[in-house]
Amino acid sequence: MATPQAGIDYDALVKEDRVHGSVYAEPRIFAEEMERIFHRGWVYVGHAGEIPEPGDFRLKKIGQQSVIMVRGEDGQVRLLMNRCRHRANTVCQVERGNAKTFRCAYHGWTYRNNGDLSAVTYQDGYDASFHKEDYGLSPVPRMDMYRGFIFGSLSPAGITLDEHLGQPAKEQLDLFVDLSPAGELDVTAGVHKYGYRGNWKFQLENGMDGYHPNFVHQTFFTAVQKRTGLKLDLFTSHSTGLTRDLGNGHVMLDSREYNKTNSHLLRAALPTMPGGDDYKEAMVQRYGHERAEEILTAGGTHMLVFPNLILIGVQIRVVQPISESETQVFLYPTLLKGVAPAMNIGRLRGHEAFFGPAGKGAVDDLEMFERNQAGLSARVDPWLLLSRGMQRERRDVDGTLIAQMTDEVTQRGIWRQWKKMMVQGGEGSVRRQLRASGRAAQTAH
Ligand code: FES
Ligand SMILES: [Fe+2]
Repeated sequence: MATPQAGIDYDALVKEDRVHGSVYAEPRIFAEEMERIFHRGWVYVGHAGEIPEPGDFRLKKIGQQSVIMVRGEDGQVRLLMNRCRHRANTVCQVERGNAKTFRCAYHGWTYRNNGDLSAVTYQDGYDASFHKEDYGLSPVPRMDMYRGFIFGSLSPAGITLDEHLGQPAKEQLDLFVDLSPAGELDVTAGVHKYGYRGNWKFQLENGMDGYHPNFVHQTFFTAVQKRTGLKLDLFTSHSTGLTRDLGNGHVMLDSREYNKTNSHLLRAALPTMPGGDDYKEAMVQRYGHERAEEILTAGGTHMLVFPNLILIGVQIRVVQPISESETQVFLYPTLLKGVAPAMNIGRLRGHEAFFGPAGKGAVDDLEMFERNQAGLSARVDPWLLLSRGMQRERRDVDGTLIAQMTDEVTQRGIWRQWKKMMVQGGEGSVRRQLRASGRAAQTAH
């Protein structure tokens, strides 16, 4: 570990096959994560399907900064910093709604839902050099969208969202959205939330962990077996499922190969995979036979978009770090546009059965996170082992790294990206960024 003056040596804390426990427990590392990963890189904010109507808004966060995701009267989606340009009060206090304006309660400045400052109270107190146009709500420096997934970056310079996502992750986002024969998601079904006393990265690692389900969720699998007579073996060491590293910290559990012969097992366990003849016909109509088959076999995706977006089953899951030992998680079950209502109801019920507050699965993982954090207090041998399957990981034809479903390819992929951002986010990168934004300013003149 580092002395208080020196920088933290991330190379020493994150090895290819293991990580040091302090990366989950050290407040100073958490502060640097916020700065280097969440306040600089691309972060998932929300989905356009959450705010379909003009004026619809959601209160979100990028790292620890409050952001309003809002659709203006002009139909355009914007990310606005939730900070009055007068003396920095938050202008929005509720997590969802529809509003033409946001009025700051402190001195009454009022902003339109496109961010423009529309009214200043007692404006005669300012001289002629004051222009309302100069004091609209600040937009998040960069915003971009892919298939309705809205990402923001608090840094004005850096790689594009397209570069951050990369082709393999974009293809997985496509598979998730293209289950809709209209090619669009409805994200208005609501959200449920949970929190746990543990580090945010436990949720990332666990969401992409094909090793734990048969142990942590044993009661669930036993119940499914009792009910249906079927034994789901996706998460065993003989499964044909894969762990896959898509690059840039984006990783997935890939069950496509397994699904080709076992989709009935998955459907029995988690009845969220769509079926029905009308639906299949609509899919073929829209995508053609081959692509429709590909989408239906995948049945969505199971992936992490680094650092905070997880897609599992029907849900969009957002991981919100609070402190080094506290995390909030938001689960948005999605509906498919262009399908019969019964199918969407099926998606919701299936989702609730495992992930809901009274579901049979998700709560067990939370218990694991809290035990994990508690275990870190024992520091005699402070390393966590991530070497499973290293000897058998290999490149697939598309260049992504794969190994068996229970292997820790996914965890290693997360940590590679984490280390890259934490190391590059150091002073060298700040200088590079300043140079880059200096260049941008010059070209703008
Ligand atoms: S702080 Fe918002 S009007 Fe004064
Ligand atoms: Fe789990």
